[in-house]
Amino acid sequence: MLELIRQPLKIDQIATRNRVIQAPLSGISDLPFRQLAFEYGAGMVVTEMVASRELVCNSAESFVRMQGKGITPHVVQLAGREAKWMRDAAKICADSGADMIDINMGCPAKKVTGGYSGSALMKDLDLARELIAATVEAVEIPVSVKMRLGWDIDCINAPELAKSAEDLGAKLITVHGRTRNQFYEGKADWQAIKSVRDVISIPLIANGDVETEDDIHNILKISGADAVMVGRASQGRPWHCGALAGNDNVPKTAEEIASFVERHYLMMIDHYGEKVGVRQSRKHLNWYLERFASNISPADRGDILSSKDVGHVVRKMTQAIENKFVIPEGEVA
Ligand SMILES: Cc1cc2nc3c(=O)[nH]c(=O)nc-3n(C[C@H](O)[C@H](O)[C@H](O)COP(=O)(O)O)c2cc1C
Repeated sequence: MLELIRQPLKIDQIATRNRVIQAPLSGISDLPFRQLAFEYGAGMVVTEMVASRELVCNSAESFVRMQGKGITPHVVQLAGREAKWMRDAAKICADSGADMIDINMGCPAKKVTGGYSGSALMKDLDLARELIAATVEAVEIPVSVKMRLGWDIDCINAPELAKSAEDLGAKLITVHGRTRNQFYEGKADWQAIKSVRDVISIPLIANGDVETEDDIHNILKISGADAVMVGRASQGRPWHCGALAGNDNVPKTAEEIASFVERHYLMMIDHYGEKVGVRQSRKHLNWYLERFASNISPADRGDILSSKDVGHVVRKMTQAIENKFVIPEGEVA
């Protein structure tokens, strides 16, 4: 199985480096996170969702989210509910160097489904088809669709939507093995992803609750998918996809991890500017502490997560990891 996951996956005219793909994670898979995940060997990385309307209307935040310097292939995920915005946003992405557009039809957040995008599109397949057709027609680069199994247990329509997407020219489907109404509860249903495999011929990525090499083996076997996507298991270790794909050269010792964390932190500050970078980094710092210094005192944790002094945070993080290093149970790296 390791041999298979090390192979590239061809998606129309582009190819992944291997078959362990870093999931789009809003608020997490920003440029620094993706650059690190890619550098450490993820097969492909995907931007956080970018709102199509906001991108077309020149929102600075959307432009920050869609950047992909140094990343190949550069995949931008768009969210939206109107064909005209999807069409124009896709063109902007392609003109700025994106290698593929992914359409978000899986986000369960009320903020997104309330606006009738994300997984709410699985309740209106005609609209979903219209958006896919508009996006595919707008650009020469491949278009993919990421979806859940359906809206709820009474409406499992991923096979129907995936088949329509293929017929409309999409080149890749990703399925997270949960319904929208499950949010992140219970266990992802890898078997249900197989019903999508059975009706499409384009590549399929299976997603949901993959953390270990065994999980990869099982999800690929059970779903029949060509590749696997990893989301939350990469929090606090952006190198995880690469490690799962066989890259042994990932941070392992306390010193290596502390130096990686410092680099990530400084990349965040460089990307967002100091004020926003410090704030946006806190969730990452917290995950690093949970993974590698879980016995840190509440006072030290609070100090690190509230300080605005970059040098102080770097020093305290390094101390925390080097002094309190705990090898997490079941850690791959
Ligand atoms: C914090 C968070 C943000 C997410 N943001 C996105 C997103 O922007 N676009 C998307 O398609 N999915 C998003 N997802 C869903 C993930 O890509 C993935 O489908 C889901 O987490 C299941 O995979 P996992 O079990 O490996 O985490 C997000 C999930 C989480 C937890």
